[in-house]
Amino acid sequence: MERRRWLKVAILICLFAVSSGRELKAKHTDHIPIYNHTLATILVEYASAVYMSDLTELFTWTCSRCDDLTEGFEIIELIVDIQHCLQGFVGVAKDLNAVVIAFRGTQEHSIQNWIEDLFWKQLDLSYPGMPDAMVHHGFYYAYHNTTIRPGVINAVKRARELYGDIKIMLTGHSMGGAMASLCALDLKVNHEAQDVQVLTFGQPRIGNAVFASYYSQLVPNTIRVVNEHDIVAHLPPYYPRFPQKTYHHFPREVWLYNVELGSLVYVVEKVCDSSGEDPDCSRSVTGNSISDHLVYFGIELMGETWRSCRIVMNPNIEKYGRTDLNGNFILSKDPAILKLNSHSNVGSNFV
Ligand SMILES: *[C@@H]1O[C@H](CO)[C@@H](O)[C@H](O)[C@H]1NC(C)=O
Ligand SMILES: *[C@@H]1O[C@H](CO)[C@@H](O)[C@H](O)[C@H]1NC(C)=O
Repeated sequence: MERRRWLKVAILICLFAVSSGRELKAKHTDHIPIYNHTLATILVEYASAVYMSDLTELFTWTCSRCDDLTEGFEIIELIVDIQHCLQGFVGVAKDLNAVVIAFRGTQEHSIQNWIEDLFWKQLDLSYPGMPDAMVHHGFYYAYHNTTIRPGVINAVKRARELYGDIKIMLTGHSMGGAMASLCALDLKVNHEAQDVQVLTFGQPRIGNAVFASYYSQLVPNTIRVVNEHDIVAHLPPYYPRFPQKTYHHFPREVWLYNVELGSLVYVVEKVCDSSGEDPDCSRSVTGNSISDHLVYFGIELMGETWRSCRIVMNPNIEKYGRTDLNGNFILSKDPAILKLNSHSNVGSNFV
């Protein structure tokens, strides 16, 4: 009896803490991104599909990962940068009433090497137009200095011609998450996109605190999902004692961790604070797991094989493609005009 009363009190205190916390936050920013679990489980399937190497199946959305919650998706543009081993697509998801853009993570010979390399990445590039904002040139150039950027921007332009200022959702895993964030920023800063939403999985840090601050003002609707002890979310390292020099995540993290109660295991999805470096989220544990990096919500986030920038393409899909001098190519088609939900009348999305 005594115990039950104590429990009631504890629950009341929690409820109070939660509600008063919300009010406080609402005063600070009017644009708090709301974490939507359902959306995360849908977008993780796009982030997984973009790893597929059979371009015919991907382009026609018939690959083994191209069903379930992403069924009916229509690719407008599939961009394959052979030179830098990068891949991304842009398409229209009728059910989300949005353009979805997904970027693949690294396909280097060994994920181990790629991760070790992340420890040593220097903040060595000023982000254009943002005083004191620093990023690592490798992340920056992967998006900005490859065929990925013109391919994506062109596809977004074509989608807008058809659907007006439709909502844009960006996703990606690992390095692909970094590219999704940089692309979202680019769309906001240079291409007048209004309704931009980012949801990434296990992405690394990409810039310093000044960069994180610009980013979160410009792309407030961003969620970084971090699974348990995922090592990549801890890299490049954060050094709290060197605030001017360290990498710094932008908000908002959602940390997935397991709670064991007897024989039952619950997955908790913790929505973290607005600092980007919430000490009570993934930073409260050691980031030492590669396996936690490769599976999110039960979905595999890697290629079918490592060591492949290998691609497979059926000759009769080549008519959709164009190739540049370096062998990079883009498959492109006009979407059958999809009827989007009636409330998405052209141009009336952001009132
Ligand atoms: C969460 O996302 C799903 C899929 O887009 C959507 O159907 C649902 O309405 C969203 N929920 C909230 C509370 O916004
Ligand atoms: C940017 O890309 C061009 C063409 O691929 C290349 O020549 C140049 O070296 C790249 N710049 C950097 C800094 O990587």
